Amino acid sequence: MNASEKIHNLAGYPPPHRLLHTAHVPGRAAYNALVAESEEDYAGYWARLAHVFVQWKTPFTRTLDSDNAPFYKWFEDGTLNVSWNCLDRQVNEGKGDKTAIVFEADDGTVTHTSYAQLLGMTCRMANALKALGVKKGDRVVIYMSMSVEGVVAMQACARIGAIHSVVFGGFSAHSLRDRIADTGAVLVVTADEQVRGGKTLPLKALVDEALSMGGCEAVRNVLVYRRTGGDIAWTARDRWMDEMASAQPDTCVPEWVGAEHPLFLLYTSGSTGKPKGVQHSSGGYLVQAAATMKWTFDIRDEDVFWCTADIGWITGHTYIAYGPLAVGATQVVFEGVPTYPDAGRFWKMIERHKVTVFYTAPTAIRSLIKAAEGDAQLHPARFDLRSLRILGSVGEPINPAAWEWYHAHVGGGRCPIVDTWWQTETGAQMITPLPGVTTLVPGSCTLPFPGIAAAIVDETGEDVPNGQSGLLVIKKPWPSMIRTIWGDDARYVASYYPPELRGYYLAGDGASRDKDTGNFTIGGRIDDVLNVSGHRMGTMEIESALVACTELVAEAAVVGRPDDTSGEAICAFVVLKGARPTGPAADKLAVQLRNWVGKEIGPIAKPRDIRFADNLPKTRSGKIMRRLLRSVAKGEAITQDVSTLENPAILAQLNETH
Ligand code: PRX
Repeated sequence: MNASEKIHNLAGYPPPHRLLHTAHVPGRAAYNALVAESEEDYAGYWARLAHVFVQWKTPFTRTLDSDNAPFYKWFEDGTLNVSWNCLDRQVNEGKGDKTAIVFEADDGTVTHTSYAQLLGMTCRMANALKALGVKKGDRVVIYMSMSVEGVVAMQACARIGAIHSVVFGGFSAHSLRDRIADTGAVLVVTADEQVRGGKTLPLKALVDEALSMGGCEAVRNVLVYRRTGGDIAWTARDRWMDEMASAQPDTCVPEWVGAEHPLFLLYTSGSTGKPKGVQHSSGGYLVQAAATMKWTFDIRDEDVFWCTADIGWITGHTYIAYGPLAVGATQVVFEGVPTYPDAGRFWKMIERHKVTVFYTAPTAIRSLIKAAEGDAQLHPARFDLRSLRILGSVGEPINPAAWEWYHAHVGGGRCPIVDTWWQTETGAQMITPLPGVTTLVPGSCTLPFPGIAAAIVDETGEDVPNGQSGLLVIKKPWPSMIRTIWGDDARYVASYYPPELRGYYLAGDGASRDKDTGNFTIGGRIDDVLNVSGHRMGTMEIESALVACTELVAEAAVVGRPDDTSGEAICAFVVLKGARPTGPAADKLAVQLRNWVGKEIGPIAKPRDIRFADNLPKTRSGKIMRRLLRSVAKGEAITQDVSTLENPAILAQLNETH
């Protein structure tokens, strides 16, 4: 932390008075009581929450089954339907006319969809999927931009017991192909095109390209949502969503599934090459999605919740597609980007829709701070944000300066900020302040959600004392946890349950706890995973993409360097097959390679810096010394021991800009 990042209020920010009594978890004593309950009877506590937050078709008799750890089972003999809990249940409880989704399109057009309408749309889509032969357990890949139809597609899969795998619309045809092939999907849901920031971008064309690459032979149909009506190629397997759905009845009996039935697969980057298909359950996932939605955001009937994530990421699954609906809330869904038509868009939308609970990522906050500093018209002070009562942050550490700005200028100094730590694998929030309980300290995600056994240990699994850094682990299984990596049980165990950690879940983050308060502060990833604008990227994945450019690239190493806006920036060191380019030739090649990575993985993986070298710094045994590359990328002096470096002269060359 530098001087400008000093915490202004050293005592922290206590919860607002009114929430001490009225919040769903009202005050520290209530929090302590929940923690004590979970410590005394762990299974009993979660069983109680499972009944409070989810309606079961047949109740479960056993809460947690650890017989085949770490393949834990929760509520296993209970049956339910996730879509029934999110939609029918709300309609049955009198919320049929309540707005479920306020959708704002890129161009500002707004539509309201009630719970009854959303249920009808979901049933039609579910029937359309069934008419196309999709059955319980089949995989459906959803490659869509932000839309009501995207949420409906996810809910429709849940309704019939199909397992969805949403692929972020910014991923390339190549990445899409890999995910379709790995899941063995039978159907792809997409849109003709997507609209973002005033631009029209292809979606269906990329699906066609992905399917032409081979490995996707299980795909029988592509269901296409007509978003723009733009010109697209059409094949015998393609079906228009509107034509299919309008021919279907608007009721569909839900498929009652066992609690452990997979609800979805979501691919995320790990420290080795191939993205992992994180498998989530139906029952445990929904319990924790709903519980965190209620307690962390203190959601009430009159709230207007807005999570700015994309449904292509876990945040968009848990806090757009499922959580808000499971608690019957009204939420805003936004198609566009925060900077179009200008960087005041978020503030304007909060004002327009009277958003009360706003959940976004530090990267967005930092870029909007910059914009507001450059143009006073874009400052939140220009907008009426008095509707806000709770703010949230997710995806990466929030630096105290950004936190203070968010608190003062967006929250008017009166809204608690819930800095929520969790992961694709955890399924739902794990360490987070609660608005009526927590004294906030900028930059700290504070304390575990009641019932989550978070701790900090050393490499042997021994607890480290507060004040010292170590590995963040979760000591006990939790309901919304990852069940396995799709098709790769061994990788699941190896990635998250290393033998030396005594059966604790290894999160992959370094962290520490405050000496006095016990508050957690996340230091960042301890593996070869980068966090770029809140998106997870594997360095090896980007390296593989670079070396796949076989005419040009002989070898590549990718590291992260800190960046003021995006958190981390991707830096690639590349050894070409030909001579090392310099000057304009190097610039030209860098552009070419950047575009190549964009095409291989997606624009989010394009390296910010590309440096060319004759060789990479290696140990005598041939291992790339990444720690040296990290220093070079940061522009720091090399202070590490370089005695094991085989080719010391390479350091001077790497330090040149090109
Ligand atoms: O490094 C942590 C960081 O994001 C990683 C998980 O990324 P992903 O699976 O894409 O999920 C992001 C959205 C839940 C974590 O290992 N991270 C997430 N939230 C925080 C965070 N780092 C610090 N503070 C947070 N609140």
